[in-house]
Amino acid sequence: MARPSFLPPFMFGLLFATFGVILSAKYSSITVDQSALLALKSHITHDPHNFLATNWSTSTSVCSWIGVTCGSRHHRVTALNLSSMDLTGTISSQLGNLSFLASLDIHQNSFHGTLPIELTNLRRMKYLDFGNNSFNGEIPSWFGCFSKLQRLSLYLNNFVGVIPSTLGNLSKLERLRLGWNQISGRIPNSLFKCKELKFLSLFNNSLEGSIPTEIGNLTLLETLDLGDNYFKGEIPSVIGNLTSLVIICLFNNNLTSEIPLVIGNLTSLRELYLGNNKLTGTISSQLGNLSFLAWLDIHQNSFLGSLPIELTNLRRMKYLDFGNNSFNGEIPLWFGCFSKLQTLSLYLNNFIGVIPSTLGNLSKLERLSLGGNQITGRIPNSLFKCKELKFLSLFNNSLEGSIPTEIEILTLLKTLGLGINHFKGRIPTPPPLLQFYGVSTNNLIGEIPSSICNLTSLVVMALHENNLEGTIPKCIGNLSSSLTAVFLWNNNFHGQIPENFAKGCMLRSLHINNNELEGSLPRSLGNCKALNLLDVGNNNLNDTFPSWLGNLDQLQVLILRSNRFYGQIESFDITVSLTKLRIIDLSHNNFSGYLPTLFFEHMHAIRDEYGKKVEPNYMREVKIMKDAHKIGVNYAYGLSVTVKGLERKFESLLSIWTVIDLSSNQFRGEIPKILGELHLLIVLNLSHNCLIGPIPSSLGNLSELESLDLSSNKLDGRIPTELKNLGFLAVLNLSQNNLKGPIPQGKQFDTFTNDSYIGNLNLCGLPLSKNCGTDEETPAKFDRDDDGDELNWKFSILMGYGCGLVLGMSMAYIVFTTGKPWWLIRIVERVRQRFAKR
Ligand SMILES: *[C@@H]1O[C@H](CO)[C@@H](O)[C@H](O)[C@H]1NC(C)=O
Ligand SMILES: *[C@@H]1O[C@H](CO)[C@@H](O)[C@H](O)[C@H]1NC(C)=O
Ligand SMILES: *[C@@H]1O[C@H](CO)[C@@H](O)[C@H](O)[C@H]1NC(C)=O
Ligand SMILES: *[C@@H]1O[C@H](CO)[C@@H](O)[C@H](O)[C@H]1NC(C)=O
Ligand SMILES: *[C@@H]1O[C@H](CO)[C@@H](O)[C@H](O)[C@H]1NC(C)=O
Ligand SMILES: *[C@@H]1O[C@H](CO)[C@@H](O)[C@H](O)[C@H]1NC(C)=O
Ligand SMILES: *[C@@H]1O[C@H](CO)[C@@H](O)[C@H](O)[C@H]1NC(C)=O
Ligand SMILES: *[C@@H]1O[C@H](CO)[C@@H](O)[C@H](O)[C@H]1NC(C)=O
Repeated sequence: MARPSFLPPFMFGLLFATFGVILSAKYSSITVDQSALLALKSHITHDPHNFLATNWSTSTSVCSWIGVTCGSRHHRVTALNLSSMDLTGTISSQLGNLSFLASLDIHQNSFHGTLPIELTNLRRMKYLDFGNNSFNGEIPSWFGCFSKLQRLSLYLNNFVGVIPSTLGNLSKLERLRLGWNQISGRIPNSLFKCKELKFLSLFNNSLEGSIPTEIGNLTLLETLDLGDNYFKGEIPSVIGNLTSLVIICLFNNNLTSEIPLVIGNLTSLRELYLGNNKLTGTISSQLGNLSFLAWLDIHQNSFLGSLPIELTNLRRMKYLDFGNNSFNGEIPLWFGCFSKLQTLSLYLNNFIGVIPSTLGNLSKLERLSLGGNQITGRIPNSLFKCKELKFLSLFNNSLEGSIPTEIEILTLLKTLGLGINHFKGRIPTPPPLLQFYGVSTNNLIGEIPSSICNLTSLVVMALHENNLEGTIPKCIGNLSSSLTAVFLWNNNFHGQIPENFAKGCMLRSLHINNNELEGSLPRSLGNCKALNLLDVGNNNLNDTFPSWLGNLDQLQVLILRSNRFYGQIESFDITVSLTKLRIIDLSHNNFSGYLPTLFFEHMHAIRDEYGKKVEPNYMREVKIMKDAHKIGVNYAYGLSVTVKGLERKFESLLSIWTVIDLSSNQFRGEIPKILGELHLLIVLNLSHNCLIGPIPSSLGNLSELESLDLSSNKLDGRIPTELKNLGFLAVLNLSQNNLKGPIPQGKQFDTFTNDSYIGNLNLCGLPLSKNCGTDEETPAKFDRDDDGDELNWKFSILMGYGCGLVLGMSMAYIVFTTGKPWWLIRIVERVRQRFAKR
C-alpha cells in the first residue's frame, strides 16, 4: 500500500493555532512516539503470533519495529501498519501523540471499544483504515478535522448512528468505506461536498431516504455502492453525469423507478447491480451503449417487456441475471453472441418459445437457469456443446421429448434440474459429477438406470411423480455417504427397500411413499443418524413398528400411513429418545394393543418447553459443497398430512407443525391422560379404533390444538367441559361413540355443527335437536338458521382467538373469495403467524 509523503513542518503551528489543541509532549522527540507505541502495545490483550511481544522492545529503535515506518527527515513515526495480525485490544488515547503520523492501518484485527478523541491530534492523517475490527459506538464527528484525509475505511465494524455531516469537510477525501456496519439515517448532503470522491461504499447498513440528487456533484466517482440498505424512490437521472463510474451497486433496496435512460452515457461501466428492488419499466436500448459492461444483475424486480436487440453490443458480458421479473417474448437468439458469457439466468419470467440453439455457441457458459417460464419444445442438441456447464436448470416449463442421452457428455455438470416438464421416455445415464439430480414430475418410464450407482457425489435425487418402475437400486445405500435427500414418491416401484445403508449414512430425508414397495423397513436405516424425515406411506410394507428408529434422535417426521404394519407399540423401548419427533402418522395400518403411553412421554418436541426453544424452520437448507457449489434442499417437499379428511400438501414444512395421527388401526383401551401433556400438539386423530372409556379432561390442556378427531370409537361418559379451553380448536369430531350428557356450550363449541356429534345416542343440547332437560347444563342462547350459524362462527373468530379483528376480517375475506374451507386456511394462517411471532 502507498505510504503517504511527509508534511511540511510549518503546518504544525497552523493546525495547533486553528484547533487550539496543545500537545503536552515535546513533539520533536522520538521518545514521545516510543511511549505512544508502548502504550498501544499495553492495550493489546491478545497477540497470538507474538508480533509485538518481543519485537516492540526499547532495546531497538522504534523505527525498526514491525509495522512502523519513520520519516527520513525527522525520524518520527509517519506510518503504522498492524493490519491482519489477529490482535485483540483497544486503541490507547496516547496514540494521539504520534504527531507525525499520516497513515494508520489496523484493518483485520479484533480491536474493539470506541475511538479515543485524542486521535484528533493526528492532523497530518491521510490514510486511515480501521476496517474489519469490532469497534462500536458512533462514527466520531471529529473525523471531520482530518483535513488532509484521502482514505477513510471503517467497514465491517459495529458502528451505529448516522454518518456525521462533518465528513463533508474532508475536501481531499477519495475513498470512503463504511459498509457492513449498522449505520442509519440519511446520507448527509454535506458528503457531496467531497468532490474528490472516487470510491463510496455504504453497503449493508440501515440507511434510508432517497438517493440524493446531489450525488451528481461527485463527478470523479468510479465506484458507487449503496447496496443492501433501505433506500427508496428513484435512481436519480443525474447519475448519467457520473461518466467515470465503473461499478454501480444498488441491489437490495426499495427503489421503485425505471432505469434512467441516461445510464447509456456511462460508457466506462463494467458492473451494474440493481437486483432485488422494485424497479419497473422495460430495458431500454440505451443499455446497449455500455460496451464495457460485463456484469448485469437486475433480478427480482418488476421489469417487463422483451429484451432490446441493442443488447447484442454487450460483447464483454460474463454474467447476466434477469431472473424473477416479468420479461416476455422469446428467448433472444442473440444471446448466442455473448461469447464470454458464464452465467445466463432468466428464471421466473414469462419467456415463451423454444430454447434457441444459438446458446450452443456459449462455450464458456457455466450456469444456465431458465426455470419457471413457459418454454416449449425439446432441449436443443447444440446445448451439449456447452461443455463448461455446471448448473443447468430448465425446471417448471413445458419442455417435451425425451431427455437427450447426450446429457452424459456434460461431464462437469453438478446440478441438473429438469423437473415439472413434459419429458417422457427413459432416464438416460446421468453425468458422473452430478450432485443434484432432478427429473421429477414428468412422464418418465422404465427403471432407474444402474449408472446412477456411479454418482458418488450425489446429494439430492428427485425422481418423484413419474411412472418409473422396477426396484430401487441397491446401491442407494452405498451412496449414502453423500446422499442427503431421496425423493422417489408417486412412482410404481416394487420390491424391497434396499438394506445396505452404511455406517456414517448422511441421509436426512427419504420419501418413497405412494409406490408398491413391500417387505420390511431396512434396519440399516438406523445408521442414518441425521435422518429427520421418513415417509414410506401408501405402500405394501409388512412389518412391526420400527422401534429401533428411536435411536434416530433427529427424526422429526415419521409417516407409515396406509401399509400393513402390525403389532403393538406399547412395549416401545424407553431407553431411546424421540426428542425431535413432531409428526407421526401411523394411520390405516393394523397396529393393535394399547396406545403407547411411554412413547408419548418421550415426544419432547411436542411435550416440553424444549419444543418452544427450537427455532422453527422450514426443514430446508442451502448446502454449500466443498467446491462452493450451492444446492438448495427442501427436505419436506411434497409431504402431506391429513387434516379433516383433506390431505394438506406442504411445499415446505414449517417445523412447528405437530401431528399425531393413529387413526384407522385396532388400538384398544383408554386414551392415556398423558396426551394432555403434549402442549404443542396441533392435530390429534385417534378415530376409527376401538378405544373405550372417557375422554380425559387433560385434553383440555392442549392449548394449541386445532383439530381433534376421536370419532368411530367406543368412548363413553360426558364430553369434558375442559375442552372449552381449546381456544384454537377449529375441527372437532366426536361422532360414532357412546358419549352422553350435555354438549359444552360457548366459545369454540358454538362453531361446531351437529356433524361433530352424530352417532352418540345420549348426547344432548345444541347443536343437536335433543334437549337436555332441566338439571343439565344451560342450553344455547341462539336460535340458529343458516345465517345465524355463519354469524356465529365469525363472531367466535373475533372473540375466541386473541388474534384480533384484523385476522377475523381477513380470514372471512379469504374464505369468501377463494372458496377453500375456512378452517383449513385459518389453521395454516395462524400457524404461520405464530411462527412469525416467535
Ligand atoms: C453541487 O454543485 C453545485 C454546482 O457546482 C453547487 O451549487 C452545489 O452547492 C453542490 N452541492 C453540494 C451538496 O455540494
Ligand atoms: C446510445 O444508444 C442509442 C440507442 O441505441 C443511440 O441512438 C445513441 O447514439 C447511443 N449513444 C452513444 C453515445 O453511443
Ligand atoms: C421472486 O420475487 C419475489 C418478490 O418480488 C419474492 O417474494 C420471491 O421470493 C422471489 N422468488 C424467488 C424464487 O426468488
Ligand atoms: C455396496 O458396497 C459394498 C461394500 O461396501 C459392496 O460389497 C457392494 O457390492 C456395493 N453394492 C453396490 C450395488 O454397489
Ligand atoms: C382422521 O383420520 C381419518 C382416517 O383415518 C380421516 O378419515 C379423518 O378425516 C381424519 N380426521 C381429521 C379431522 O382429519
Ligand atoms: C393441566 O395443566 C395444569 C398445569 O399445567 C395442571 O395443574 C393440571 O392438572 C392439568 N390438568 C389436567 C386435567 O391434566
Ligand atoms: C343437523 O343439522 C341439520 C341442519 O343444520 C339438520 O337438517 C339435520 O337434521 C341435523 N341432524 C341431526 C342428526 O340432528
Ligand atoms: C366425523 O367422523 C365421521 C366418521 O368417523 C364422519 O362420517 C363424519 O363426516 C365426520 N364429521 C366431520 C364433521 O368431520
